[in-house]
Formats: sequence, structure tokens, C-alpha cells
Amino acid sequence: MTPVTHPLHFTLNGERVCTAIAPHETLLETLRNRFELFGARESCGQGLCGSCTVMVDGQPVSGCLSLSLSAEGCEVTTIEHEVHPDGKLDAVQQAFIECGAFQCGFCTPGFILMSRDLLSRNPNPSDEEIREHLSGNLCRCGAYPEIVRAVQQAAVMLRQG
Ligand code: FES
Ligand code: FES
Repeated sequence: MTPVTHPLHFTLNGERVCTAIAPHETLLETLRNRFELFGARESCGQGLCGSCTVMVDGQPVSGCLSLSLSAEGCEVTTIEHEVHPDGKLDAVQQAFIECGAFQCGFCTPGFILMSRDLLSRNPNPSDEEIREHLSGNLCRCGAYPEIVRAVQQAAVMLRQG
């Protein structure tokens, strides 16, 4: 029997794309299996860890919980999207490297997207506000102190332009 598929059109990292998806397919599955974008990862699969974070119309969502059908016509951005067209790292990526804010790196794409999201809303967050905004993201390596430091450093870099 031919599997049922639905057409899906959306903007992915700035480009209009279309594909065919299964009705129950999650956005995480579509991005990884149909577009070979592997930056968002599945860990808990239940919306509890943030490793599958992607941006949909400027809002962070858990790709493991979002049905791809709900992305029809939306703008989806993943960690693979280059902030600078010349491929230069953005302030958050740079600060994560300089502060050693990761060990295995599994959680890092989710943390970077959430950190950018915070700094786009609050350019001068307190440590408490950073911890609060990133509270849905888990790091099994326990790099939390370095992550908070990296977000503070990125905030300074962004404020200085
Ligand atoms: S894999 Fe989606 S939140 Fe954990
Ligand atoms: S750096 Fe390993 S899970 Fe966060």
C-alpha cells in the first residue's frame, strides 16, 4: 500500500522549500530525514530537554513535539542558518567557544538558539534571567556555569556592536 503523504511548503533557513510528509511526522523528523539538517537532535522526545529546538516564525519550538503539518507556510530556522552571510560566527557562537560552554556539544544547538532568542528580547539579562530562559534546555555534561558566562559575554559583544 502506498503510504499517505501530504505536501508541505515552508521557508527553511531563508529558502522556500517543499516536500511530502507523512501526516504524523514531526518537524524534527522532517528536518533530519528529508533535509539532512542534523543540528537539532532528539534526546527525550517529550519536550523536556530542548535539544530539538528550532525557530518557527521567530519563536522557539520543540521539534520533537511539533507536527510538520503545522509548519505549512511558516518560516523555520535551524542552527544551520548562518547569521552572517560570510559564514563568520555570530556573537553567541563565538562566546560559547571562548567560554568553553560545551563538552560533547549535543545540547549546544538548542542552547545557542535559545540564547539568541533571549538576547533578541533582552539585551542585558541578569544571570537569573539567563537561567530562567534556558531552563527548558538540559546539558548532561553540566556546562551550565560556562553557558551563563557565554550568554553574558555575547550580550556584551552585541551591545558593543
Ligand atoms: S528531544 Fe525534543 S525536547 Fe527533548
Ligand atoms: S555539552 Fe554535552 S550535553 Fe551539553
